[in-house]
Amino acid sequence: MQLKNILCMGAGYVGGSTMAVIADKCPHLRIHVADINLDRIAQWNSERLPVYEPGLDDVVRRTRGRNLFFGELSPQVIAEADVIFVSVNTPTKTYGQGAGMAPDLQYWELSAREILAHATGETIVVEKSTVPVRTAEAIARILNTGNDERRFYILSNPEFLAEGTAMHDLEEPDRVLIGAEPTPEGQRAAEVLAEVYSHWVPRERILLTSVWSSELSKLVANAMLAQRVSSINAITALCENTGADVREISRAVGMDPRIGPRFLEAGVGFGGSCFRKDILNLAYLCEQFGLSQEGQYWKSVVDMNDRQISRFVRAVVESQFNTVAGKKLALLGFAFKPHTNDTRDSPAIRIATQLLAERAHLVISDPQALDNARQDLAGLEGEVAFEADPYRAVEGAHAAILITHWPEYIDLDYRKIYSVMVRPSFIFDGRSCLDHPALFELGFNVYPIGSPPLVHD
Ligand SMILES: NC(=O)c1ccc[n+]([C@@H]2O[C@H](COP(=O)([O-])OP(=O)(O)OC[C@H]3O[C@@H](n4cnc5c(N)ncnc54)[C@H](O)[C@@H]3O)[C@@H](O)[C@H]2O)c1
Repeated sequence: MQLKNILCMGAGYVGGSTMAVIADKCPHLRIHVADINLDRIAQWNSERLPVYEPGLDDVVRRTRGRNLFFGELSPQVIAEADVIFVSVNTPTKTYGQGAGMAPDLQYWELSAREILAHATGETIVVEKSTVPVRTAEAIARILNTGNDERRFYILSNPEFLAEGTAMHDLEEPDRVLIGAEPTPEGQRAAEVLAEVYSHWVPRERILLTSVWSSELSKLVANAMLAQRVSSINAITALCENTGADVREISRAVGMDPRIGPRFLEAGVGFGGSCFRKDILNLAYLCEQFGLSQEGQYWKSVVDMNDRQISRFVRAVVESQFNTVAGKKLALLGFAFKPHTNDTRDSPAIRIATQLLAERAHLVISDPQALDNARQDLAGLEGEVAFEADPYRAVEGAHAAILITHWPEYIDLDYRKIYSVMVRPSFIFDGRSCLDHPALFELGFNVYPIGSPPLVHD
């Protein structure tokens, strides 16, 4: 197959960023990114991209209109495509069988049916979305129902980028995984995709596996990352009660090369669009195969995360003399991690919701995520304001609650912050990233995750 045209269905965090990098590295390819959400397409074609990701603007600026095009999903772009990446959303099902656990594959199936309706000749269909094991098989069955000359080859190519460092992760990936059927045609299709990546990824980092191993690897990778976060978080309450400091423990434990230092930072819990949904997906898969203990094991990673969030909220309420009703609380950070505007499943949503249920008055601050925060909290009862400037956000607040460890929050002038807050003033460090003794010296009552509170008499 002579590869010329690539189509990506789904112009989201993954589709947009991944295709921008492929366009940048492969100027000989023509790449069309399509979405059913036309507002999103308009944003990709504007000066303000829908995704905030360091470095993304530059790559889009040099490729857009050259060999990268954002547009609607038309029969023509499907017909012209040699390779179609499907990077649509695969949220957790909220209805019917498997509700709350299984992935909702309706967007995926609709994409497959669009492809079936309009594709011509030979088409390689690449699963970019995270999908449960054996989705490719189902897709292949849908695509190969026609009695015609057309040919479809299904590959699994899960994306391992992390938001906030996506451009680096895409430009220098640890590995690129391509799962293919063990047939000569399947292997040929895998080779076409491997050739695209080999323009910038060393061959030894391009792993060819079976389709099922590839699909399952992605779920396992996310489950293991989340498990590390829950494991260190499961130590925080013990530290707070005994006087140990979880940061010292992370450091000491992480220096063991068998464990390693990354993903050992304690906090209010993980978020993002993937971890919860992928673990629940894995747990559901285990249960479907009668492996309920294995399913429970993985589900406990999510349960621990939920518990960490509720524990944090409880500490806030208890410190405020058991009531936050009518008190102004400033939330510093709403994105699920720094350097992104993504708030999907951010711990901030649950924290804000639980504090509003306690009738607190919230002021939400974040350098990039306020538009999404507004949408996330729309419709909730209670008093919520949004303020990008952290100094204004904390004016008249009883407590400042750090949720996202944006670097700018570490460097804030806390003396100035203290001066505009209500007395006694409280600070909750949900990421244990601040200088707690220094804050205590300034006059704050300091409640860090993972070490005992520093409280003035
Ligand atoms: N966000 C991440 O960090 C990340 C990392 C690795 C993998 N993933 C996986 O990649 C997939 C996409 O994630 P995302 O964060 O980019 O999601 P997203 O919600 O940002 O983007 C998905 C896009 O697909 C569009 N879409 C839905 N149905 C469509 C159709 N039939 N045709 C065209 N477009 C359609 C939606 O309108 C949306 O814009 C998910 O399966 C996710 O689990 C995400």
